[in-house]
Amino acid sequence: MEMMVRARRNRRSAAIRGLVRETRLAVEDLILPMFFHADAEDVAIDSMPGCTRWSVQGLLKEIMEVHDLGIRAVVLFPKIEDSLKNPQGSESANDHGLVPHLIREIKKRYPEMCVITDVALDPYNSDGHDGLVVRGCDGELKILNDETVEVLCRQALCHARAGADIVAPSDMMDGRVGAIRIALDEAGFEEVGIMSYTAKYASAFYGPFRGALDSAPKEGDKKTYQMDPGNVREAIRELLMDEEEGADIVMVKPAGAYLDVIARLRDETTLPIAAYQVSGEYLMIKAACASGWLDEKAVVLESLLGIRRAGADMILTYFAKDVARWIR
Ligand code: PBG
Repeated sequence: MEMMVRARRNRRSAAIRGLVRETRLAVEDLILPMFFHADAEDVAIDSMPGCTRWSVQGLLKEIMEVHDLGIRAVVLFPKIEDSLKNPQGSESANDHGLVPHLIREIKKRYPEMCVITDVALDPYNSDGHDGLVVRGCDGELKILNDETVEVLCRQALCHARAGADIVAPSDMMDGRVGAIRIALDEAGFEEVGIMSYTAKYASAFYGPFRGALDSAPKEGDKKTYQMDPGNVREAIRELLMDEEEGADIVMVKPAGAYLDVIARLRDETTLPIAAYQVSGEYLMIKAACASGWLDEKAVVLESLLGIRRAGADMILTYFAKDVARWIR
C-alpha cells in the first residue's frame, strides 16, 4: 500500500509513545480526601473498601505516609458525633472542634502540606442537609440560602483561623463564594484560597461517602441546591458567578460521568479546574477489580488520565496514595 501518512509510526516504541504523549498524571495533581472522627479507633469504612475513618492519632500517622509518598494536598472530612449535631450546625464554627484541631496538628508537622477543608453543613446539621432547613407551610422542606451563607462564612473563618490553606464550599448555596471571600478578606485572610464546588451535581454516586460520614439527608434530597445531571449550560452559569465572586479554583463533581462538563468549563475559563472522582466511582472500580475481571492499577490510571485529558488540572481521588506509588 502507498500511504504518505501512517499514524502507527508514533506508537512504535515506548520511547516514541512517551515523546508524543499529550497528557500525563503527576503526584502534584493529586488531592487525597481523608475521613476522621473523634473516636480513639481507626475504623474501616464498609461502603468504601480500602478507606479508613481515622482517629486523630491515626490520621496524623497516615499523613506522614501520605507526605512521604509526595502527596502535598489533602481535603478533610469529619464524622461528627450525633450529640454535637443540631439544626443550626453550630459545631461547624467551633474553634475547638475536630476539624480546626486537625488542621493545626497537620500544619504544625507539615507546614508545606496544602490543607483544604470542606465548607458545608451536612456533617454538622441534624437534618443531614448542606444548609439550614425549615419546613414550609406546605409541609415541604426548604433549604434556606442567605441564612446558610452566613453560617458558611463563620465555618470558613474558623478553618482559616486554624490554618487552612484553601476552603472548599461544597454546599451549592448561591452567593457563598463571594460572601466567604469578603469575610476572609475582612478578617485579614486574603491569602486563603477558595476552591469552589462550581458544578456539583445531585448525583447518586455520593452514596458510599454518606455512608462513611453518616451524613445522608434525614428527609428529602439535595436537588434544590445541587445541579440537575442533564445540565451543562447551567454549569457555565455557575462558573461565571464563581469567577465574578473570586473563586481561585473551580470544581466539577462527580468526574467520570461529567467529563463533557470538565471539557466545557476548560474552554470557558482560565481558572484552574479540579475534578472530584467521588466515592461511587471509587467503589465501582474497587468492586469490579475485586472480581478479578479488571486490572486495578491500569483502570485507575486510565480513569484519572481521562479526567486530566478532559481538562482537569487536579483530581480529588481516594486512589491518590496508590497512584503516587504507581507513578513514582
Ligand atoms: C458534602 C459532600 C459530599 C461529598 C463531598 N462533600 C456529599 C453530598 O453532597 O451529599 C461527596 C464526595 C464523594 O461521594 O466522594 N457537602
